[in-house]
Amino acid sequence: MSTNLVHLVEEPVTALADFERAALVRNAWVLIDPQLPKEMYTYMTEDPKDANIIRFLLNDSERDVAYLSVVQCFWSAEPGVYQVNMNFLPDAFSPELFAEALGRALRHIRGFGGTKVSVWSFSPKAELIQELTRHGFEAGQKNPVSGCMLQEFDLEPWSAQYPLPSDLRLVTAAQLRDEFPNDWTRRLHDFENIGMQDVPLPQPFQPLAHEVFEAGLLSPFTNLETVFYLADGEQLVCGTAFGQNKVDPTEAFTFLTTTLRSYRRRGLARSLKIHAMQQAKSRGVRRLITDNEESNPMLQLNLALGFRVFMDAVNFSRSVG
Ligand SMILES: CC(C)(COP(=O)(O)OP(=O)(O)OC[C@H]1O[C@@H](n2cnc3c(N)ncnc32)[C@H](O)[C@@H]1OP(=O)(O)O)[C@@H](O)C(=O)NCCC(=O)NCCS
Repeated sequence: MSTNLVHLVEEPVTALADFERAALVRNAWVLIDPQLPKEMYTYMTEDPKDANIIRFLLNDSERDVAYLSVVQCFWSAEPGVYQVNMNFLPDAFSPELFAEALGRALRHIRGFGGTKVSVWSFSPKAELIQELTRHGFEAGQKNPVSGCMLQEFDLEPWSAQYPLPSDLRLVTAAQLRDEFPNDWTRRLHDFENIGMQDVPLPQPFQPLAHEVFEAGLLSPFTNLETVFYLADGEQLVCGTAFGQNKVDPTEAFTFLTTTLRSYRRRGLARSLKIHAMQQAKSRGVRRLITDNEESNPMLQLNLALGFRVFMDAVNFSRSVG
């Protein structure tokens, strides 16, 4: 079905009803990790108040053909960088619609005073990658995306060979909340910020404000029972987590796995990840998905644990111009 570019109208996405429409476009376009409208709406309410962020739909007078979000990279120390998430109704995608959507995103970024634009694409989206390249974007960081089919993967030999360390304590974020009711979010925030410093990212990392991190922890869409740590006394030394998809709970996505520098190469990340995989399996997860920068040792660790790469997430960037 062709798109009427002459009558393309940009509509801001701010209310739950807007997210009902945005989710239809987003979930038709993304290849993993579909989201509920309520979930998308809630994430919007958790945006840092001082970051420039705009979300909009493009409607061709018959249907919504694109949903974009333009997000100031508040997690990056490089000033002026904006991430644009581009979602198109698959049968509406065309080079002309892409150019129109990009043009509108760039106009917003210029209005905010931004200088650089960053877009993530999955490798199977050849049509998007072709247009990004045609419009001067260059490929940068590549994160192979891998999945482990948990129900078919026998974890017993792994947990027998790599048991959790007996000198450290296994705790979930839910247990830490109960144990340290006054400062549990700060403890988790401090640990996350230390770990994130060593994660390869397209732009240098800048610690998240505590309120932003805390909003994520307190979100109704965060399950604190699936956030795991190893603690040495009160000190968190290793962490990993997964979140079950809200549209399809048989799919889950892995969040940051990290070990404090002075505790590395003792098998902590491996044993905690095996534990998380067992927990995911017992909660009915069929496929646990993760992505790692291609040279990150975590990728080899995951591959050894039965993960198989099925596509790449590739970062594209250019100056706003
Ligand atoms: C990646 C990371 C979590 C590994 O934690 P760890 O507790 O040291 O990992 P383990 O000791 O369980 O390592 C298990 C195996 O993974 C591989 N591995 C781990 N770190 C490695 C490294 N730096 N170089 C090469 N191989 C490595 C090895 O095969 C290791 O087994 P071995 O020590 O018997 O050779 C840790 O380096 C880290 O926190 N990095 C920064 C955060 C990050 O990038 N996380 C991943 C984001 S996707």
